[in-house]
Amino acid sequence: MIRKILTGLVLFVLVLGLGLIILAQTRYDRTFEAPYPDIRASTDSALIARGKYLVYGPSHCAHCHSPMENIALVDQGEITPLSGGFNFELPIGTVYSPNITPDPETGIGNYTDGELARVLRYGVKKNGQALMDFMPFYDMSEYDITAIISFLRSQSPIKNERPNHEFNLLGKLVFALAIQPQGDGDVPPTPAAEPTVEYGKYLVNTVANCKGCHTQRNMATGAYTAPDLSGGAPFEYITDEGKIDFNQYFLTPNLTPDPETGRLEGWTEETFINRFRQGKLITGSPMPWGPFTRMSDLELSAIFKYLQSLPPIKNPVPLGVQQVNAE
Ligand code: HEC
Ligand code: HEC
Repeated sequence: MIRKILTGLVLFVLVLGLGLIILAQTRYDRTFEAPYPDIRASTDSALIARGKYLVYGPSHCAHCHSPMENIALVDQGEITPLSGGFNFELPIGTVYSPNITPDPETGIGNYTDGELARVLRYGVKKNGQALMDFMPFYDMSEYDITAIISFLRSQSPIKNERPNHEFNLLGKLVFALAIQPQGDGDVPPTPAAEPTVEYGKYLVNTVANCKGCHTQRNMATGAYTAPDLSGGAPFEYITDEGKIDFNQYFLTPNLTPDPETGRLEGWTEETFINRFRQGKLITGSPMPWGPFTRMSDLELSAIFKYLQSLPPIKNPVPLGVQQVNAE
């Protein structure tokens, strides 16, 4: 009797496992339909300047899309080429951030404006596959997306072939079952650029990705698993040479106004703005401090006001560099 049950169980597990493997192999490259936004790049110099500001400033595209060995230059606020950057070592495999210069073969030269806008608005690639949720720009204003694409078009093309992402079985399963397009196309009106809670919310959630790093997420799917900005998400230690040091890591501080565990407890708006003016203070920090030093006082003031308006969440997070296998 027991033998029969055991044989049945083993068979069940085998069939289930086989089913998952087949699912992973056949469905990981599934494609999606998403509309092409009606956005057209322009050669208007004010638009291109706005795009460049977002790319090298608050939206820190340069932090992820510049070659890793340039990370120190990015941190000093230099304009580095966007020829492909970080190799993200994740539990689901290795992800290579692509070349987003206008080279037709290895970059985005053969993308139409609509295809580029669809990447940013919906998280869907040219070939219809969904992108992982690294970039939070889905609800950006039409003006800002137009500015970014106009700037991308204005760069010099750089030939730099990037490897294809390498997913393990778990990664393929995650793509087969979980990774989906993101934006619903229903873009809320963009608040005016004023030092207000509303504008701060737009910057924190949509433009500068503070939320994406300062909130705990499922490491496989990217889904949020804790209240916004309550901190505690693990991040890699990046050396000045652009190498990841796997023996050390960081946890993102809690940015909600909790009196005991909030990192900003006791900070005034002035403290906050001054902190951003100082740039990176802890070697190895993956926070894009360099690009953020470009942000204006108005933007930082809005961000501070929004953070102060959040519900306080108690979540103690150790500060500074953490050691793997610390005794
Ligand atoms: C946190 C890191 C990060 C930031 C910041 C970031 N990107 Fe990306 N980007 C990635 C990664 C990783 C991918 C590949 C994701 C995938 O293939 O699922 C990607 C993919 C892309 C693609 C798609 C290329 C393709 O294969 O279809 C474009 C276009 C792009 N990024 C543009 C931008 C722009 C423009 C910005 C700034 C407004 C930006 N990125 C900011 C990490 C980032
Ligand atoms: C790529 C991930 C990432 C992004 C994006 C990011 N942070 Fe951070 N942040 C970190 C990490 C990791 C630390 C801890 C290490 C350090 O202090 O540099 C940190 C630290 C901080 C601190 C504490 C600084 C101190 O001196 O103790 C503040 C404040 C902060 N972040 C605010 C923000 C805001 C506001 C944004 C958006 C404008 C943002 N962060 C975007 C990862 C990120």
